[in-house]
Amino acid sequence: MRILMTGGTGFLGSALAGELRRRGHHVLTPGSKDCDLRREDALERYTDQTFDRIFHLAAWTQAGDFCLRHPGEQWVINQKINTHVLDYWQRRQPQAKLVCMGSSCVYDPELDLLEENYLQGVPVDSLFSYGMTKKMLYAGLLSLNRQYGLKYLCLVPSTLYGPGYHTDGRQMHFIFDLIRKIMRGKLYGEKVILWGDGHQRRELVYLDDFVELALGLADTHANELINVGAGQEYPIRHFARLICERVGLPFEEIEFDTSRYVGARSKCLRTDKLQRLVADLRLTPLEQGLDRTLAWFEMEKDRVLPPP
Ligand SMILES: NC(=O)c1ccc[n+]([C@@H]2O[C@H](COP(=O)([O-])OP(=O)(O)OC[C@H]3O[C@@H](n4cnc5c(N)ncnc54)[C@H](OP(=O)(O)O)[C@@H]3O)[C@@H](O)[C@H]2O)c1
Repeated sequence: MRILMTGGTGFLGSALAGELRRRGHHVLTPGSKDCDLRREDALERYTDQTFDRIFHLAAWTQAGDFCLRHPGEQWVINQKINTHVLDYWQRRQPQAKLVCMGSSCVYDPELDLLEENYLQGVPVDSLFSYGMTKKMLYAGLLSLNRQYGLKYLCLVPSTLYGPGYHTDGRQMHFIFDLIRKIMRGKLYGEKVILWGDGHQRRELVYLDDFVELALGLADTHANELINVGAGQEYPIRHFARLICERVGLPFEEIEFDTSRYVGARSKCLRTDKLQRLVADLRLTPLEQGLDRTLAWFEMEKDRVLPPP
């Protein structure tokens, strides 16, 4: 297949594009330097090519309190990116199935995190702008499907983790931040201070599991919104304890700063639909995924854990 992937230089995109290439597909992965999707004409350079599939992963965001500090920019930038990609798809590549990433941040915390609630209610306040742009992206898919019959698939991942995260010092997803702080505590004796009381709950999906599921679902399903989660969440303290055991730092040395931003208290996708669609759903056990992720941190120590 010929595939165009936006966001193919990112954490998920690099893994997804790598696996597609291993399977023999031709994948174009323009990054923001060569193809800034804030520009209306960014994708016009690919008009002489015909794609079977477009993976749309590009989004302007980071973890931690990034969304809280950039709501206006996030709205404008992500709306531009999504509108330009959808417009290009409809005008130039209507034969392609478009597979894009939604977000668990879209869901109203008062409602079950079930697909039928994706367009209901409002996201948690701190993620309002980012969550709403993802909601609008899905509304765009529905609209183009209704008028032009275009085929889409919208996957909603919970937080992804695994080897190969960014090494550029950006705000990391909670699990990478936990690993970074605990490893620095062990390596350099730095005090480990985690945000919140540690009782907020999160779920994780191992990157390779998500890639495998996304590629399978992209081949077999269209015009659906599908949550892709582990179906089980744990308190941050549980993750911290597992990492401490592996790194060799006493868990009791960790401090919790309850004055800091923690986001939603709980965020676990309902995966009833995924379990119906994927017979024999097997996910990498958390301990095994953590071991592999810690091995990557160890390997990339110079870049991700530079001395103070
Ligand atoms: N990671 C997760 O846990 C998670 C969970 C739920 C949903 N998602 C969704 O999955 C997708 C990929 O996530 P990720 O973690 O891989 O994100 P990421 O590592 O931050 O990658 C973001 C990608 O978007 C591209 N991008 C940003 N601004 C752009 C612009 N103006 N023009 C062109 N490209 C631009 C970046 O390109 P450059 O690097 O070249 O700037 C990069 O390839 C996103 O849509 C995200 O919302 C991720």
